[in-house]
Amino acid sequence: MTNKKKNNYIPKDKLGNNFVHKKQTINNNEEKESKEKNTSLKNIILSIKNASYRYSDAEENDYALRDVNFDFESGKTYAIRGRSGTGKTTLLSLISGLERCTEGEIIFDGKSLKNMNLDKYRNSDIGIVFQSYNLLPFMTASENIILSMDVSGLKIKNKREKAIELMEKVGLKENYADRKVLRLSGGEQQRVAIARSLSYNPKMIIADEPTGNLDKQTETEILEIFKKLAHEGNKCVIIVTHSQNVCDAVDVIYDLKKIKEENNK
Ligand SMILES: Nc1ncnc2c1ncn2[C@@H]1O[C@H](COP(=O)(O)OP(=O)(O)OP(=O)(O)O)[C@@H](O)[C@H]1O
Ligand SMILES: [Mg+2]
Repeated sequence: MTNKKKNNYIPKDKLGNNFVHKKQTINNNEEKESKEKNTSLKNIILSIKNASYRYSDAEENDYALRDVNFDFESGKTYAIRGRSGTGKTTLLSLISGLERCTEGEIIFDGKSLKNMNLDKYRNSDIGIVFQSYNLLPFMTASENIILSMDVSGLKIKNKREKAIELMEKVGLKENYADRKVLRLSGGEQQRVAIARSLSYNPKMIIADEPTGNLDKQTETEILEIFKKLAHEGNKCVIIVTHSQNVCDAVDVIYDLKKIKEENNK
């Protein structure tokens, strides 16, 4: 397998101050440059096109996100970073179909989310991993994974075997399958949460600060799982993060900037 990271190199002068060595880093206000770059990209699974979002209780011009243009490819890992209030969580809500763009649109696998059944999209096309794991603590690891298979509505044979296979993929041995989640460490719970997000074989994994509660060594191990899922399993992995360790590990970094800062320039 070739290392896709090497393809992401863009000269520092094209990207200004946000350049990260050997990595593609794009700001939401560098729309033109990102578009130029993307003409040569293939395998785009998700495109955010001129997306803006204003919360319903916000003032007329008070946008949480303004004109965001990002593309995401299968087989790559991405970090979305930005200071507090730049709209990271808002953007994840749009990508995961929990909210709809006020302006612009999001295209998944060639189809606008506007025309899709968003429950089905969330339950079968994308896997979501949360900072706080969001597992059911009184159920076992395998029961949590099987429940997610059931919710997806997909016909999956040998669910328990499949759950154990997924657990092994994230570094958990079979004897963890029948252990209640509340008896697992934070790092182990996050592995179960990743296995659960894979239970219906989604094309994209979206993770909101997935390593925020973990020590650095465990964070590195979890990042290795995400990298493998992208580089060997051809998934698109998108991670919202503040962690430099995460930014160092991913293929592409997208920076969100504060709208008010941009307006004051
Ligand atoms: N439910 C809401 N109603 C109105 N405004 C909101 C709501 N949620 C967030 N906002 C506003 O939208 C902007 C972006 O918020 P968001 O939570 O997406 O930022 P963030 O980058 O995730 O920040 P953090 O790093 O602190 O989690 C902020 O100005 C925030 O005050
Ligand atoms: Mg947030």
